[in-house]
Amino acid sequence: MKEIVLVSGGAGYIGSHTAVELINAGYDVVVADNLSNSDMSGVEGVRKITGVDVPFVNVDCCDKEAFRKVFEQYNFSSIIHFAAYKAVGESVADPMKYYRNNLTSFMNVVDLMREFGRPNIVFSSSATVYGEADELPVTELTPRKPATSAYGNTKQMCEDILRDSVNAYEGLKGISLRYFNPIGAHPTALIGELPRGVPQNLVPFITQTAAGVRECLSVFGDDYPTPDGSCLRDYIDVVDLAKAHVVAITRMIEDKNKTKYEVFNIGTGNATSVLELVNSFERVNELKLNYKVAPRRPGDVVSIWADTTLANEELGWKAERPLDDTLQAAWAWEKNVRGIK
Ligand code: UD1
Repeated sequence: MKEIVLVSGGAGYIGSHTAVELINAGYDVVVADNLSNSDMSGVEGVRKITGVDVPFVNVDCCDKEAFRKVFEQYNFSSIIHFAAYKAVGESVADPMKYYRNNLTSFMNVVDLMREFGRPNIVFSSSATVYGEADELPVTELTPRKPATSAYGNTKQMCEDILRDSVNAYEGLKGISLRYFNPIGAHPTALIGELPRGVPQNLVPFITQTAAGVRECLSVFGDDYPTPDGSCLRDYIDVVDLAKAHVVAITRMIEDKNKTKYEVFNIGTGNATSVLELVNSFERVNELKLNYKVAPRRPGDVVSIWADTTLANEELGWKAERPLDDTLQAAWAWEKNVRGIK
C-alpha cells in the first residue's frame, strides 16, 4: 500500500509542484483546494506531467464539515498544508480576512488530523517570521521578530499552533518549513506561478514585463546599505522547494524526526540583489527588460538569506538548481501562459 499525502492548496503554485514531486517519489496524492486563488490548470498540469489522474476535491478547509468528508473519504497519513492567503499588502488592509482564513483552516487541519488519528503535518511557513533579522544569514535559532503584517502574523501563529499541538497531543508530529523567496516553474512549463491581477512579487512582475503585459518594472530602492543598493533575498527554485516537502514528509513517515516538532529554513544560502536578479534574467533569456529605479517599498526588509545547514545535514536536502536555470524556467512558463513563441 502506498502512503497517501493530502495536499491542501495543491492547485496553487508551490502545492502543484509539490504534488508532482510526491508522485515522483512514489506517494499517492490527493489535492484539496477551493480554487480561490488558483484554477484547475494547476491540477491538470500535475496530471499531465505525472501521467497520474490525481484525485481533486473542491473544498474550503475553513468549512470543517466539508473538510471532514475528505478525511472520511481518503486514508492519508500526512498532510501538507499550503492553503492560505499570501498577499502581504492585502493582509495589512484587511487583517481579519487573513486571520479568519489562515488560522481557521489550519486549526481545522490540526483538529481533524487528531480526530482521525493521522500523524504528520507539514506547514508552509515563511522567512517573513524573521522580520529584519539581527544576524545574517538566519538560522532556525535566530529570534523571530514581531510580524509587520497580518500575513506574517498568521505564519508565526500557525507555527505556534503546530508546535503546541504536537507537544500536547499524542500521535501528532509536525514540521514547519520556512521558505525564502520561491521562484521559477516546472521545467516542462506546464505548471508555474499564476498571479491574479498585478503581481506583487518580483519574478512574476519581471516575466510579465518581458511579455509586454506590464510596461515597466519598478526596482524598489537602490539606496539600501547593500553592495549595489538594492535589497538582498534568497531565491529558491520551486522544484527544489517542492522536493524539501517530500523529504520532510518521508522523515516523519519513517520516524526519523528528532523531536515531535521541527523547523527548517528552505533556501539556497545565497544572497542575490534585485538588480542582480534583473540582470541575470536579461542575460540568460537574451532580452532587455524595461525597468526603472523607484522609491523603497514600505515594509520591505533590507536583506535576508538562509543558513541552510540544518536542512542540509538533518534532512539531507540541498537546493540544486542554478539560478540561471530557474530564471529560464520562469520565462518559459510565462511564454507558455501568454502563447509567446
Ligand atoms: C514577500 C513576503 C514573504 C512571502 C513572499 C511571497 C514579507 C517581508 N515578505 O517576500 O513572506 O513569502 O513575499 O509572497 O512579507 N521588488 C521590486 N519590484 C517589484 C516587486 C518586488 O523591486 O515589482 C523587490 C522587493 O522590494 C524585494 C524583492 O524584490 O526587495 C523581492 O520582493 P517579493 O518578490 O515581493 O518578495 P518579498 O517581499 O521578499
